[in-house]
Amino acid sequence: MTTVSQISPAIDPTTQGAALSDDANWWRQASVYQIYPRSFADGNGDGIGDLRGIISRVPYLAKLGVDAVWLSPFYPSALADGGYDVDDYRDVDPKIGTLEEFDEMVAALHGAGIRLIVDVVPNHSSDRHVWFQEALASPKGSNARERYIFRDGRGENGEEPPADWTSIFSGPAWTRVEDGQWYLHSFATEQPDFNWKHPEVHEEFLKTLAFWSDRGVDGFRIDVAHGLAKDLPEELPSKAELKAMPKDGTHPLWDRDDVHDIYAEWRELFDRYDPPRIAVAEAWVETPERRAKYASPKGLGQAFNFDLMEADFDAEHFREIVTDNLAQSAVTGSSTTWVFSNHDGVRHATRYGLPPREGRPFKQGADWVLAGGPEDGIDKELGLRRARAATMFELALPGSAYLYQGEELGLQEVAEIPDEQRQDPAFWRTTAEDRGWDGLGRDGCRVPLPWTREGSSFGFGEGVAHLPQPAWFADYAVEVEDGVEGSTLEMYREALRLRRELQTEETLTWDEELSSGDVLAFERPGGWLSVTNFGAEPVALPAGEVLIASGPLDADTEGAVQLPGATTVWLRRAGA
Ligand code: NOJ
Ligand code: CA
Repeated sequence: MTTVSQISPAIDPTTQGAALSDDANWWRQASVYQIYPRSFADGNGDGIGDLRGIISRVPYLAKLGVDAVWLSPFYPSALADGGYDVDDYRDVDPKIGTLEEFDEMVAALHGAGIRLIVDVVPNHSSDRHVWFQEALASPKGSNARERYIFRDGRGENGEEPPADWTSIFSGPAWTRVEDGQWYLHSFATEQPDFNWKHPEVHEEFLKTLAFWSDRGVDGFRIDVAHGLAKDLPEELPSKAELKAMPKDGTHPLWDRDDVHDIYAEWRELFDRYDPPRIAVAEAWVETPERRAKYASPKGLGQAFNFDLMEADFDAEHFREIVTDNLAQSAVTGSSTTWVFSNHDGVRHATRYGLPPREGRPFKQGADWVLAGGPEDGIDKELGLRRARAATMFELALPGSAYLYQGEELGLQEVAEIPDEQRQDPAFWRTTAEDRGWDGLGRDGCRVPLPWTREGSSFGFGEGVAHLPQPAWFADYAVEVEDGVEGSTLEMYREALRLRRELQTEETLTWDEELSSGDVLAFERPGGWLSVTNFGAEPVALPAGEVLIASGPLDADTEGAVQLPGATTVWLRRAGA
């Protein structure tokens, strides 16, 4: 049996792995592993993941073979929204570490040849941020209030909110303060929106970006990148009016054209570093054309596309998405991004095991749980099989692949979290009846990782994990999969290794002969062929040397090898 110490040996981080390349384009086809810090590894046994924990797992990340880590917020926070409510943008939450540990973590990652991208949350701060506290203590119309979006209320005594808007997490988007004014929060009450018309807000974020860049951070993931610029008229539109307004760059709240002036400022700062710091936008916009603006080299440089995350497991749909996004990146000069799972959606191994439903598939967990519990109609085995095939499809594509912690274990979404232990404001701001936004919320994909099959919190740490782990987590532990042929972990390791070896130019050619019906095949330069069978029935395995498959290949009665349903295989073309 593999012991824990073999999985996480004591290391001198500075002597680990490959050196960082000085290639300014390192990000274009990187595999990026998202760490949700409070749920990754707990170094001091208090039940909350921390920087110590991450440092201890750098060898694991190096062995996995990722190029970069994206670290979700680790800043001081009351955790009203899992850290996306930031008290202080230039410090580490004492619950999870110190600035010195942050520096140590950067050195350990860099020493292992892994870059670091950190999350920046510029649309809103937390209500504990010193500026918001100052705003509360300052009079109406003061400079301190101007950094946020305060308005008088409607009604005789201003007792009604300035507008009937609802927050993205449900519930009202305006909250009243002691002297009767109201402030805007697009998300939770504890997340007041900044006023980006205020020059001090610009200065504050330039200072923050420089602070982390100077500490060796390689790039930034920009939260709600489409929300910063706002232009609110004196007479506020109603919720219905807002909804009817086109999101073509002129909307008062979302995806305004002038948001790109902010990113032009940031780009100037990024380019002062060598290699330039990179950024990836989280921008939920209407069209690929509007997304392209965020990916401009004059702006953030790259933008998430969540198209695959929202798609059904379907050959035609996948092909359309890949074609559109590659065409788009050819226009912007950026590289595209691929995502199947993150801290906001139902894990793809679970999503793909659910019966097909209408609506946005990555939120499907909601319907599923509300329909009668976690085991209602779910086929976990099929879900995992498809997820593995989808991931191998993704890893063969040109562009950056963003992976979410735990997906390399084939981890499933956790539905069975008692209400009182749930943390997500998207859960708490809704009722069972109107739980439209995200069903049970996002805690189910944020449950601390299982590292060992037994022991306190399955090796996450020595304490009780801050979100409860179900007993079945043992089956997905790193210890269970490490070194085991055919395990999801070993598949990720081998696919990531091969990807590094095989990846050259950012081009792809569809193999029209092989691509038909449920089969989708494409070739990358050098004869690297990826073939996915999205259907249920096996198909003949194309010719070539098998490099890796997402599941076992079948033999038919004649003894010929077949590509089973929900499986991806990578082949090297003969003569290549
Ligand atoms: C997007 C983040 O991914 C999500 O987790 C967060 O709740 C919202 N932005 C608000 O910051
Ligand atoms: Ca801890």
